Amino acid sequence: MKEFRGRVAVVTGAASGIGLALCQRFAAEGMHVVMADLKDSALEESAAKVRSAVLGAQILTQPTDVRRWEDVQALAAATKAKFGGAHVVCNNAGVRTMGKIWNVSLEDWRWVIDIDLWGVIYGMKAFLPDMIARGEPGHIVNTASAAGLLAMSDNGPYTAAKFGVVGVSESLIMELREEGAPIGVSVLCPGRVPTNIRANSNKLRPSGEPVTSRPNNEGSRVVQTDEVAGMVFNAIRDDRFWVLTHPEMGVLVDKRARGILETDEIVKMTL
Ligand SMILES: NC(=O)c1ccc[n+]([C@@H]2O[C@H](COP(=O)([O-])OP(=O)(O)OC[C@H]3O[C@@H](n4cnc5c(N)ncnc54)[C@H](O)[C@@H]3O)[C@@H](O)[C@H]2O)c1
Repeated sequence: MKEFRGRVAVVTGAASGIGLALCQRFAAEGMHVVMADLKDSALEESAAKVRSAVLGAQILTQPTDVRRWEDVQALAAATKAKFGGAHVVCNNAGVRTMGKIWNVSLEDWRWVIDIDLWGVIYGMKAFLPDMIARGEPGHIVNTASAAGLLAMSDNGPYTAAKFGVVGVSESLIMELREEGAPIGVSVLCPGRVPTNIRANSNKLRPSGEPVTSRPNNEGSRVVQTDEVAGMVFNAIRDDRFWVLTHPEMGVLVDKRARGILETDEIVKMTL
């Protein structure tokens, strides 16, 4: 996509962290922005922040639980009604839980996969038919994680969902190219980014079980949300698929590939 002014971006998980930074960047580029997040999130306050940072920005807020197909369909319908349809869709809402695979409750397993994987699937299914039919340049951005390329211990549900997001994004770009649609795809694989993900996930987790273990990547290099948003924007503009916020992870990805093919080494995400 080369033209952004007056085009329409939709972001899920828009009230906080990476999603909010994406909305700020899209608004600053002159795009109309549809911000979607849970009803009880800071959605309205976050939209007010974007409006005050970018005077004249056209922002629509739409309470959306990405676990609910009806909500995501309603998001697509609201986008169409207000702005005529989406050009950029960022399937970004996400949560995590911690714990050994055998200890995490089934409720928490389903909750993570419903949001982190099904939320992305719903986003693609709700928006793509209209985007393809309109035939205008567009772009899908699916937020995975470094944990979509390298497994984390104590993060089984998150790893499962994020590997799924990477795989389905690769399938999507193949299918859109085969279809000849002018729609690009990027998969965002962040390492550590300072956001509210831990607090939000603890607050929202259905089981309410206390988190006893810590992420593998605490103490590692952080990349700020506005830098991540800049990387995503450049990937959309330059039509690039992989967005790795921490290129140093390449060493580990390479090691994993050699583990599969030669050494049988199991490589842990330690960014
Ligand atoms: N922060 C990191 O280090 C990091 C690293 C890798 C990947 N990610 C991914 O980045 C994405 C954004 O996370 P973040 O770090 O900005 O976290 P965040 O908690 O700051 O923002 C996530 C937003 O998603 C919303 N959300 C949660 N459940 C939802 C639901 N069911 N429906 C709609 N919205 C929902 C939350 O209300 C929140 O506003 C996630 O997919 C996350 O997995 C983050």
